[in-house]
Amino acid sequence: MTISAKTGLPHWETVPADMPSAIKEIKAALRSRIAESGRTVPEVITEIEEFLAAEVADIKATKSRGEEVWPVIEYDDIENQTVSESALALLKRRGCAVIRGHFDHAEAEKWDADVVHYVDSNHFFDKYTGPADDFFSDLEMSKPEIYPIYWSSAQMEARQHPRMAKAQSFLNSQWRHESEGRTWFDPNRDSLYPDRIRRRPRGADSGGLGTHLDPGTLDLWMTEGYQQHFRHLFAGDFASYDPWDAGFRTEAAQYPGSTMCSAFRTFQGWTALSEMNNDQGVLHTVPIPKAMAYLMLRPLLDDVAEDDMCGVKLNRSFPANSTWHPILMEAVSCIPSVQPGDSVWWHCDMIHSVAPVTNQQGWGNVMYIPSAPWCNKNAEYAKSVLAAFLAGKSPSDFPAEDYEVDWPNRFTEADLNEIGRRGLGLED
Ligand SMILES: [Fe+2]
Repeated sequence: MTISAKTGLPHWETVPADMPSAIKEIKAALRSRIAESGRTVPEVITEIEEFLAAEVADIKATKSRGEEVWPVIEYDDIENQTVSESALALLKRRGCAVIRGHFDHAEAEKWDADVVHYVDSNHFFDKYTGPADDFFSDLEMSKPEIYPIYWSSAQMEARQHPRMAKAQSFLNSQWRHESEGRTWFDPNRDSLYPDRIRRRPRGADSGGLGTHLDPGTLDLWMTEGYQQHFRHLFAGDFASYDPWDAGFRTEAAQYPGSTMCSAFRTFQGWTALSEMNNDQGVLHTVPIPKAMAYLMLRPLLDDVAEDDMCGVKLNRSFPANSTWHPILMEAVSCIPSVQPGDSVWWHCDMIHSVAPVTNQQGWGNVMYIPSAPWCNKNAEYAKSVLAAFLAGKSPSDFPAEDYEVDWPNRFTEADLNEIGRRGLGLED
């Protein structure tokens, strides 16, 4: 541990050897930093809770009027730059959106069929040995729902599609990519973060996934870059905290873990390949980007053990729950029903979950494609992505299952367009 010259806080750029002591140390330092503002931690928490209560009330009122909580934006309005001011304001407020008609319905259904052909023609189900990580281990599956497949034509065509690039630029531009006299990322170039596929068949039973978030774990408090990113929160200044300011974030050190995402994602996202009704085990969020303030500061209250950050642990996804964050659980909101070719997006710090389903009606098929704009962090990760792509291996953020190495019909370098080549760092 050293004291950062930039933040004045103790920081650990790699995992502390004695984590309980490190947690005690950072909590004490953050409490005294907040005290310097002239307010106590409970006073700051009360301010945040009042803000959250108003947001929760608005979300509940929206539901009771029978309206969608999630903003719905037509792709054509993104293309034509005709998204209304009110829609933009709602996107910022809720931190999530469905893009309707992002891809042609028939094209998305063709991608779904292409995925099936890709795995069948390579006898994937004969070779599949079960989940290689424990992230989805609470789900009983005879066949996988999450396919550890990265390099199908369908996935790569979607990742490098001009309509994907256009939507990602639009989403990235909701963030401030320049602040503090620095440029943090390029909103108009994506790094093609490769992720898996989900195909959940008709009749499936699934336990879902509990409320959690994916940006990191204890590193969010402990490394210098995240301390700079959350500088306003850590000074007790909730009003100045802007969840859309990328400042320092694209350089922050992360602690390694099997569920870690090495890339900076402005939004997590997926593209629907089948029709999904919103009562069939779909994605939910707590659509309040500033809720991150509560997650980051709530552990400083003295009803939490001194060596505990409300249950956040290394190498586990960051939990949000009714024990520590009951007010947030009242805001959990499902996506609208989607059609093939619609895409779904949520701010990278937002709490989300997947609802359980029994005897699912219809398929539940998605390609996970986030928005991961070009920046120092993503350029670095793109080097290993390029190597994995050329070899047909699993990207380094995922278990090294490498199913596709000898699959002859995977997407090749010759199939890349300019968006794809720039995304993989093959050209600027
Ligand atoms: Fe997640």
